[in-house]
Amino acid sequence: MAKPKKRFVCQNCGSISSRWQGQCPDCAEWNTLVEDAPATVFSQKHDLSSGGRKVEFEALDEPGEPLKRRPTGLAEFDRALGGGLVPGSAILMGGDPGIGKSTLLLQAAATIAKDGGSAVYISGEEAAGQVRMRASRLGVADAPIKLAAATSVRDILTTLNASEPPALLVIDSIQTMHSDTIEGAPGTVSQVRGCAFELIRYAKENGVALVLVGHVTKDGNIAGPRVLEHMVDVVMSFEGERSHQYRILRALKNRFGAVDEIGVFSMAGSGLEEVGNPSMLFLSGRDEPLAGSAVFPALEGTRPVLVEVQALIVRLQSGATPRRAVVGWDSGRLAMLLAVLESRCGLNFSSAEVYLNVAGGYRLSDPAADVAVAAALVSALADKPLATNSVWFGEVSLAGEIRPVAHSGVRMREAAKLGFGVGYGPGDADGSAGLNYRSLKQLANLVDRVMASA
Ligand code: TYD
Ligand code: MG
Repeated sequence: MAKPKKRFVCQNCGSISSRWQGQCPDCAEWNTLVEDAPATVFSQKHDLSSGGRKVEFEALDEPGEPLKRRPTGLAEFDRALGGGLVPGSAILMGGDPGIGKSTLLLQAAATIAKDGGSAVYISGEEAAGQVRMRASRLGVADAPIKLAAATSVRDILTTLNASEPPALLVIDSIQTMHSDTIEGAPGTVSQVRGCAFELIRYAKENGVALVLVGHVTKDGNIAGPRVLEHMVDVVMSFEGERSHQYRILRALKNRFGAVDEIGVFSMAGSGLEEVGNPSMLFLSGRDEPLAGSAVFPALEGTRPVLVEVQALIVRLQSGATPRRAVVGWDSGRLAMLLAVLESRCGLNFSSAEVYLNVAGGYRLSDPAADVAVAAALVSALADKPLATNSVWFGEVSLAGEIRPVAHSGVRMREAAKLGFGVGYGPGDADGSAGLNYRSLKQLANLVDRVMASA
């Protein structure tokens, strides 16, 4: 048994040291450290079972206020939020630089302000003149937004507390905010956390819908403490390729709605335009059949979106380690699928470079994409184009089986609506959706189908 350690307790502040010192390291009082038995000290100092205030329990079915939401005026933004902004809630909006976060929020603030709600836009990154220039480009310069360029949270809260709380408060961005009660430069973990805490408290106490813009690190996480994501009610990410026109707004966490709905926008010369019916967007110009291209009927929340998956296989002559590059899909998932194709179907990818791309800057997260990716890979490997009127979906297991996925019917109906004729999918889907349905049970069936297609 380990020898019990000696403990010295400060009689002034209760702090515990492992050795005796003349001065208490916590309260700086002299000659207050006294040796004490560990057990008794612990129970006296840390027993929390009495001395507190009694908490009232409430029933779950007590009538409460129904959730009031305020539409942002951008239907796609509202859809991703689950129906509009909730007063007294905090939203964290992440996204790559230049993707359009400031543009989106300025447009939303302008619509709310024009509708008679008050909107405050605090820019910590751009000067007021720059924001004004953007507003005139967006055609919203006449909206009565309260605009300020500021970074001190104390200044901001002092100003806000001097008048009626606004309906919407935009902080662009939380990494530029600074609190004088905390040490460190803006953007450090403690500054970001402290500033967010104060702003969120203001929003909750005053029924303000708060949007914090957050920078994103190279690997796609919101910079600063992860705890920021716990503090807010909604975490949204604004995604897309800067070189492409389309942008997707996605809720990653939502205390007031579903997280699988997306909003789709396109970046035009005069700001973000809403794309109400996105199902055809991500199909690139597909007239002639090309090897390595497969169409996947993806589902985003309740919305079907048809996406083109492209694969390129380059045979290597030398023994160099082949590259695998993926845009728009999970690279771990690609490695798994290649391994399953090798071990269950005997295809050899190990000496070839594999490139996979999801067209239009779209990012696939639907597990049903496995079959479409496999079809694109096999088609590229065999140099056999797939029929241009076919769609492919289903999940692939490590054993090489094709597993059923959710909402096969919705996927096929949308594909049929857009003129596709053949659907390849897991065994369970019924063919009643107007599509010629071919069921795939094993990955080997898929390979056969691809090899048979002309
Ligand atoms: P911005 O909102 O500043 O991005 P973020 O705040 O996420 O960093 O968007 C900047 C980009 O959007 C910029 O590269 C130009 C483009 N853009 C347009 O194409 N049209 C427009 O009307 C506006 C305002 C911006
Ligand atoms: Mg910005």
